[in-house]
Amino acid sequence: MNTKELLVLALAAAQVAGAADFCDYNRNGKKDAFEDAAQPVEKRVEDLLSQLTLDEKIGQLNQLVAPAGDDKEFFALMRKGAVSSYIWTRTDPAYRNRFQRTAVEESRMGVPLIFGMDIIHGAYLTFPISLGLACSFEPELFERAQTVAAREARAEGIDWTFAPMCDLARDPRWGRVAETCGEDPYLSALCNAAQVRGFQGADPSAPGRVAACLKHYVGYSAVTGGRDYNDSEITEWELRNLHLVSFGAAVKAGALTVMSSFNTLEGIPAVANRHTLTDILRGDLGFKGFVVSDWESVMEMIRWGYAADKADAARLALNAGNDMDMKAMAYQPNLAAEVKAGRVTMATLDEAVRRVLRVKFQLGLFERPYVDETAFAAVEKAIDAELPLAREAVSKSVVLLKNDGVVPFRPGLKKVALIGPFAEDKTELIGCWNGRQTAARVSIAEALREALPQETALEVVKGCSVMTTPPTITQQDGRIVLDRAAVATDPGLELSKAVAAAKGADIVVMAIGETRSWTGENASRASLGLTGRQQDLFDAVAAAGKPVVAVVFSGRPLVLPRVWDKAAAVFYAWQPGMEAAHGICDLLAGKASPSARLSMSVPCDVSQVPAYYNGPTTGRPGQGQYRDTPERGSRYCFGYGLTYTTFAYGGVRMEGNEAVAEITNTGTREGTETAQLYIRQNVCHEGVRPARELRGFKRVTLKPGEKATVRFALNGDTLGYFDRQGKHRADAGQYTIWIAPDSRSGAPTAFAFGG
Ligand code: GLC
Repeated sequence: MNTKELLVLALAAAQVAGAADFCDYNRNGKKDAFEDAAQPVEKRVEDLLSQLTLDEKIGQLNQLVAPAGDDKEFFALMRKGAVSSYIWTRTDPAYRNRFQRTAVEESRMGVPLIFGMDIIHGAYLTFPISLGLACSFEPELFERAQTVAAREARAEGIDWTFAPMCDLARDPRWGRVAETCGEDPYLSALCNAAQVRGFQGADPSAPGRVAACLKHYVGYSAVTGGRDYNDSEITEWELRNLHLVSFGAAVKAGALTVMSSFNTLEGIPAVANRHTLTDILRGDLGFKGFVVSDWESVMEMIRWGYAADKADAARLALNAGNDMDMKAMAYQPNLAAEVKAGRVTMATLDEAVRRVLRVKFQLGLFERPYVDETAFAAVEKAIDAELPLAREAVSKSVVLLKNDGVVPFRPGLKKVALIGPFAEDKTELIGCWNGRQTAARVSIAEALREALPQETALEVVKGCSVMTTPPTITQQDGRIVLDRAAVATDPGLELSKAVAAAKGADIVVMAIGETRSWTGENASRASLGLTGRQQDLFDAVAAAGKPVVAVVFSGRPLVLPRVWDKAAAVFYAWQPGMEAAHGICDLLAGKASPSARLSMSVPCDVSQVPAYYNGPTTGRPGQGQYRDTPERGSRYCFGYGLTYTTFAYGGVRMEGNEAVAEITNTGTREGTETAQLYIRQNVCHEGVRPARELRGFKRVTLKPGEKATVRFALNGDTLGYFDRQGKHRADAGQYTIWIAPDSRSGAPTAFAFGG
């Protein structure tokens, strides 16, 4: 009997003697280093990599979307070791385990799959969208929320979420500002690092944790004209000091993956941009995980006119530093030939595979490839236990923009009219990336009924639809023609009924906004008004003469001058998620006090975007006005928000390298104030610094008459910037400091920094 026959016999004997005392993935009967959890990850990676064939290595870079129908081809690919990951759009742990069992037990090397999904602002329990939650100015809230989301996701068999989105909001016409943490790099960095901690915890292999994915790398939010999927033209100076800040902080927080973006930068598609993917991401930011492309962006390089075909695209992307191909099926069929032809080196391929295997080991997928199918049933039950957190997140993310004293509701109200298409709706409130949850638990109407005293009557009138029936679009000689003759109609318009309800009430609450189907991905808008006939509804109701409290739902800052001017109070609620109604009614009834601050500026007009606060002073501050309008920039600025009391700020004084100020609650109710530290470097030879930059904030809760002292250290971290080589530095010199309630207020104070 020769050696091979002896080995086969030994193997058979081992199987007969029961499974080996380890996961024998390659079924060779011996405990390879990669099968030994006691071995260091790097040793396991190298051992496994050394045993993979060329095709199996390429298979580790291939991600597909879960099958919607016939899945035979998927199983065939997995048996060949030709699939590494799925975008798991299904909620079926048993089916997920069937896929995993095929990869682990029926392929030659048994490498587990990694299952990814967009768990953006909640899996089953949906929280406010990130743009809203960032208004809490409480990064810890993100960590708590994403901890819940990770637990729900992992219980269902999702090992990897495509979040947080680290893009910096710049243009409200771009629908994806909804997924960002706003327009400020400092706030965004704190919130996104907190999300990574929430998703991954200290050990992402622990039960209830998932791998985070920083997206969309990089510059996607600067798309020209706010038009999704477009080119982005950003200077290196802006890239370093605006768009990369959040990515850098989240990489430092330990993010295991990054997703490259759809846009081009200086004419190069982000998925094949070696400068950003390798020089900056791995060189400057020190990222050690793997990069996955966004959707079919590898193939889309053909449409951009950057790649000739899928083989060319695969080579360009992999050589630039994009490790995994999401859905395009460009890597799997083409890379072997590219390697054999020497256009992709084996070293480049090995490095990409190494990164993917490293994350799979770090996630514990080799030790626990399967999900406990009974645990998933507990997820639904666990939601109730976390509803208070979701409710707290809502009341801390809704921004009070205006209040003529009509909220919180005074006692003794005889009748409240609730009007608007969001009044009884439960799907619009949930947000644009709503995970597995499709509707809020209760509507505004139901929650308001609960919140009001029994003796207060409540009348609810929808008034109009959330958007009109879209006008018909026809094709004429290959062109798309909008048939304006079929003017958008709203069969649900009921203005007179709404006006009558308003006239009969002491106070009106209007639940209005933007349909969620026009927010998020591929949802750019050329106007920023209310959708459908809601503005007509608001104008008619406001003319009834009763005080109107507007509650505005949107995935972006809208431009609503008539609402700002005519409403007696305005709550900006964003898309608050599953506990929207309870959180908002807590604020209306005074059970909770508003403390949120705008994470993104509200423009005066869509023609004036971008309206972010952190632009330069220019050489002629205050000039350069638009000739045809007196307004400029933002109606409500970044960092702005009211509470139910008032606060006074004492002057800023320097105590050594600390900026100090007293804050006093000068009102009649307890409230939480978010004191903000802004800085400006008065002279910077590396490049002009913004007129103001947020570099600290402190939330203080004070009773009427109470004072608090807030202190901010002024050091390299708070004063620094990234120079042309990407190095962080803080120059000695003169600075201007503000401690203020928002990005427009406060008195400037001089500070000399020694460097
Ligand atoms: C989408 C989005 C990205 C998402 C991915 C997977 O196109 O751009 O944010 O994570 O595809 O769903």
